[in-house]
Amino acid sequence: MSLWRYRDRLPVEPLVTLNEGDTPLIPAPRLSERTGAEVWLKFEGANPTGSFKDRGMTVAVSAAVREGAQAVICASTGNTAASAAAYAARAGLRGAVIVPEGNIATGKLAQALMHDARVVALRGNFDEALRLVRELVERHPISLVNSVNEFRIDGQKTAAFEVCDGLGEAPDALFIPVGNAGNITSWHRGFEEYEDAIPRLLGFQAEGAAPLVHGRAVARPETVASAIRIGNPARGEEAMEAIASSRGSIRAVSDQEILAAYRLLAAKEGVFCEPASAASVAGLLKYGAEGRVVCVLTGHGLKDPTAALDQARSVIPCEPSLAAVEEVVMG
Ligand code: F0G
Repeated sequence: MSLWRYRDRLPVEPLVTLNEGDTPLIPAPRLSERTGAEVWLKFEGANPTGSFKDRGMTVAVSAAVREGAQAVICASTGNTAASAAAYAARAGLRGAVIVPEGNIATGKLAQALMHDARVVALRGNFDEALRLVRELVERHPISLVNSVNEFRIDGQKTAAFEVCDGLGEAPDALFIPVGNAGNITSWHRGFEEYEDAIPRLLGFQAEGAAPLVHGRAVARPETVASAIRIGNPARGEEAMEAIASSRGSIRAVSDQEILAAYRLLAAKEGVFCEPASAASVAGLLKYGAEGRVVCVLTGHGLKDPTAALDQARSVIPCEPSLAAVEEVVMG
């Protein structure tokens, strides 16, 4: 099974696919107990490259192949780069990715490099990278696969279809991290196409990178959640309209709140996501919820081993004797 079971609602044929989508919708008993709501986790880290980006990339790269493109390019905080590189490799296209130097998680960098993309470390941030690639594709016949590409939005809307099919109806609310604001736009489109009942869309940005919360671009965004370190979201206006029409909201969570949710998910629910993904659960814990709610966990925890080792307990060194092992295990 893959998201291509919704192919009649997608604008292209699956020319390039890694069987993405159909990710687990996991009940969260501890979070439910804590909040009083019925909480579910949509674990998008289970996609082929470990993030929701694959949903959009299979559609965008299929469209690029149909159109005869020779190469694909994107600006990225890391996940789009990993996904674009994988699908370009699969399609036999050249892939180029522009990432902010020093601000991309190790796993994502390893993926982009292993998939043989040309990886460019820009001495600038994501917003500058996106502005440059948008100019570049004006001059060259390269397909831009950032979420400004409509095919990306169409692919990513299938996550909403899966949630509605999984629960039998739309949930009361959707908690979701927001960076460039493509994904919340996609979920909105998905719910709209699926049925009339659109859940309240509750988007969360990191405090130091919260342009939509403040209503203006942030020149130097900062957050531990590198995936959403974005100061000028490309789909900001559309996302704000989607949020308003769902009677939802966009709010900020601090890095501390993000990291607390990140640890709690792994230690208490057994679900390991990356820090940016935990912004949805940080929002749930901070602002509360009622009814049946879904938190979107956008990327896998293995993407960012550095953040994990920073947050977790230390390993316990031990001599190779039974007594020593007994002491550290049972003590
Ligand atoms: N969560 C993760 C793990 C992400 O990688 C991103 C975006 C988001 C949430 C936010 O989604 O941008 O659609 O609002 N990552 C992009 C990238 C920017 O380049 O990988 P959004």
